[in-house]
Amino acid sequence: MVRTRNAVLPDVEHIHAIIQPYAQKGTLLPRTLAELCENVRDFVVAENEENGKIIGCGALHLYGQHLAEIRSIAVDPAAKGLGAGRKLVEALLEEAERHHVTCVCLFTRIPDFFGHMGFSTASRQELPDKIYKDCVHCPNLFACDEVAMVRGAIPQHTGPRDPQILIPLVRLGA
Ligand SMILES: CC(C)(COP(=O)(O)OP(=O)(O)OC[C@H]1O[C@@H](n2cnc3c(N)ncnc32)[C@H](O)[C@@H]1OP(=O)(O)O)[C@@H](O)C(=O)NCCC(=O)NCCS
Repeated sequence: MVRTRNAVLPDVEHIHAIIQPYAQKGTLLPRTLAELCENVRDFVVAENEENGKIIGCGALHLYGQHLAEIRSIAVDPAAKGLGAGRKLVEALLEEAERHHVTCVCLFTRIPDFFGHMGFSTASRQELPDKIYKDCVHCPNLFACDEVAMVRGAIPQHTGPRDPQILIPLVRLGA
C-alpha cells in the first residue's frame, strides 16, 4: 500500500533521485538539490507503507491567493500503477484546499492522466505567471508541446506582470 506525507529536508536526495532520470529524458524540468532544499515545503512524497521507501513525489507551488501549480509529479518506474500518482495529486489538491486556493494549474504531456484527476485543458495565455517563472529558462520555450490544464476557475488577476515576460509572451503569440 502507498501513503503520502509532507516532505522534509532529509527526503530531498530521494526526491532528486526520482526526478533526475525523468529530467534527463526531458519528461520533467530538472531540479537541483539546492532548488529542492529551498522548495521542500512545496513537496509531498509517496512512500511504501511497509518499508517507508519513497516511491514518488509532487509539489504544489503557490503563485497567489487564488492560483497554485502542481509540479514535479513523478513515480519511480518500478512502482508505477500502484496508485501513488493518484494519491500524490489528491494530497496536493488537499493542500491547495487547505490554503483556500481556488484554481490549480499544471503543464503536462500526459493530459489523459490529469483529465482522469479532474483537470481540464486551459488557455496558456491566461496563466502568465508560470511563463515568467519557468518557461523563459526552458530550452523548449519556442517549441513547447505541453498542455496547460486547470481545476477550478482561473483567477482574473494572478499578480503583477513583469515587463521582462513580454518578449517571450509576444513570441509565443500571447
Ligand atoms: C504519471 C505518473 C505520475 C502516474 O503515476 P502512477 O502511480 O503510475 O499512477 P496511478 O497508479 O496512481 O494511476 C492513477 C490512474 O491514472 C491512470 N494513469 C496512469 N498513468 C496514466 C497515463 N500516462 N495516462 C492516462 N492515465 C494514466 C491509471 O490507469 C489509474 O487509473 P484508475 O484510477 O482508473 O485505475 C507516472 O507514470 C510518472 O511518474 N510518469 C512520468 C513523470 C510524468 O510524466 N509526470 C507528469 C509530469 S506533468
